[in-house]
Amino acid sequence: MKHLHSITELSNDEIMHTIERAIMIKNGEIKRYENIYTANLFFENSTRTKCSFEMAERKLGLQVIPFETSTSSVTKGESLYDTCKTLERIGCDVLVIRHPENNYYEQLKCLNIPVVNGGDGSGQHPTQCLLDLMTIYEEYGNFEGLKIIICGDILNSRVARSNYHALSSLGAQVKFVAPEIWQDHSLDAEYVRIDDAIEEVDVCMLLRVQHERHDEDASNFSQVNYNRMYGLTRERYDRLKEDAIILHPAPVNRGVEIDSELVEAPKSRIFKQMENGVYTRMSILSQVIENNR
Ligand code: CP
Repeated sequence: MKHLHSITELSNDEIMHTIERAIMIKNGEIKRYENIYTANLFFENSTRTKCSFEMAERKLGLQVIPFETSTSSVTKGESLYDTCKTLERIGCDVLVIRHPENNYYEQLKCLNIPVVNGGDGSGQHPTQCLLDLMTIYEEYGNFEGLKIIICGDILNSRVARSNYHALSSLGAQVKFVAPEIWQDHSLDAEYVRIDDAIEEVDVCMLLRVQHERHDEDASNFSQVNYNRMYGLTRERYDRLKEDAIILHPAPVNRGVEIDSELVEAPKSRIFKQMENGVYTRMSILSQVIENNR
């Protein structure tokens, strides 16, 4: 792994190596690096990805160069390319970037600095995918034959796109649950009703309803009907298998994708995902650093 733009760049072996390395780090095997400088450029808001990258960087001993888009020369119209070229030339070694434009990283491939993608529009969220996989792997010890549903706003979800690719490639049986307006038929997945699938699944992965990416019709629909038709209610929770788990990349719209009381219920791994995000990002950053030496 010399950079990480999309989960589709990684082979199954590379995915498994990243997860196993994250688990070793979680168990205390932490290597620290000297004189490595990083910057985190978030052109879309974030709590988990931004803070857990920064935590991962500090735990690895990296020097984090502060960068906020709101106080940077981005506000004067400086392009993404010129911003990243500047950070490369002043001595940064790795950039972590979240940007609203799909495939923004393509324009940066000619720079001599690795980019780790913290999410590009509705494209990819490879680090979220890897932390989700780590959380599933800790539970089941493999992916082959696992029954997984990904529920919600598939069309706008970079998490769904990354997870569908990786989980299918690792042998899981992945199906989608989504209202017609949020289905994405460019992905070759079967759509099912949540009530037909809920009793069989090993993993119920919920997605955030992304109001900020919707027009008014879709927004009204989500507010009024979503929980009743597609959400994880108490009644559906009680029909899950004994050892089934619930994932959600968060932030959670409580009472919409999942009833508020279920966010920390025994089958929920939502906060464990966040904890695993730090170890996964340490695993990714350490590989990128070592492979660019
Ligand atoms: N899951 C996720 O990407 O959360 P943030 O938007 O808070 O980073």
